[in-house]
Amino acid sequence: MRVLSGIQSSGTLHLGNYFGMMKRMIKYQNENDLFCFIANYHALTTLPNARNLSENTFHAACDFLALGLDPDRCTFWVQSDVPQVTELTWILTSLVNRGLLDRATSYKDKIGKGLKPNMGLYSYPILMAADILLFGGELVPVGNDQKQHLEMTREIANKFNNQYGEIFAIPKEDILEKVKLVPGTDGQKMSKSYNNTIPIFEDGKLIRKKVMKITTDASEIDEPKSTDAPLFELFNLFLNNDDRKKLISRFETPGARYGDIKQDLFDKIMDYFEPFRKNKERLIQNPSDVFDILNLGAKKAQKSANQVLEKVRSCTGIKYK
Ligand code: ADP
Ligand code: TRP
Repeated sequence: MRVLSGIQSSGTLHLGNYFGMMKRMIKYQNENDLFCFIANYHALTTLPNARNLSENTFHAACDFLALGLDPDRCTFWVQSDVPQVTELTWILTSLVNRGLLDRATSYKDKIGKGLKPNMGLYSYPILMAADILLFGGELVPVGNDQKQHLEMTREIANKFNNQYGEIFAIPKEDILEKVKLVPGTDGQKMSKSYNNTIPIFEDGKLIRKKVMKITTDASEIDEPKSTDAPLFELFNLFLNNDDRKKLISRFETPGARYGDIKQDLFDKIMDYFEPFRKNKERLIQNPSDVFDILNLGAKKAQKSANQVLEKVRSCTGIKYK
């Protein structure tokens, strides 16, 4: 099965990105035909600073590789290295009704947070549909916030197929209940734009500071603690069933201190990511190795893109000779 997903290079990697999407993608490389990319055209819609965008793109690529993505077992590229996707975006744009985009909640959320309503942000879901359809993505691992974008992609693909013939595979989202909405330190969805993230590859001191900031209720030490809380949910990301039971009992037994639990969570995070942290340091020191990997990935991705784009150009009449 062709599994495809991407991550925007719009900021620093956090636990929500890793557990919501990347961890699963990396696992899928073992038994699927995996396509994975860094969505820097998407990041451009909110990041007008050129230096930040290019640095973030390099870092996002290093993040994925450091966490275990194996370029020999998948196709891994940077979105802008396969500009065919912008051609397909334009072709799809001519098919999409404005009403479809007017329904997009992620656009409204971003505008609500003060981002400039540029046309890139508005057309974001069409570029995302092109990302998926150009490479025949069948299963798309994402967090819950991307569900509507997948519904739109299906709507666009069906409309295209009805009008021009069966060109596109119809993709399905892969959303996992336990990690579909990783909470941030304030209990809302963890997101780069909410200043509530727990980063993965930042300095330990900063990570500890963020963990200590996780919102807790005002229950006393000798009272049982509720497991329906961000601290529990975040800790639970690292636990198997047995350890989860132990954590529930720790929360429910009077005497537990939130400060101690937070310290243990911090240790857990540092231990878990320690080997990946070393990988990342190595990659950052060898940028040309990373560029070689991305160049090779772009070639593979272009080959696949050209096959679909040829069909699209023919059936739409863009190809005229
Ligand atoms: P952000 O919301 O921080 O800007 P991205 O949009 O770059 O993150 O998301 C990259 C991937 O990580 C997407 O598949 C998204 O659904 C997933 N993701 C991001 N935040 C979370 C979260 N808090 N819980 C679950 N998945 C998440
Ligand atoms: N919109 C996704 C996000 O914000 C990133 C993305 C761009 C993507 N193109 C994609 C995800 C295609 C899956 C498939 O996280």
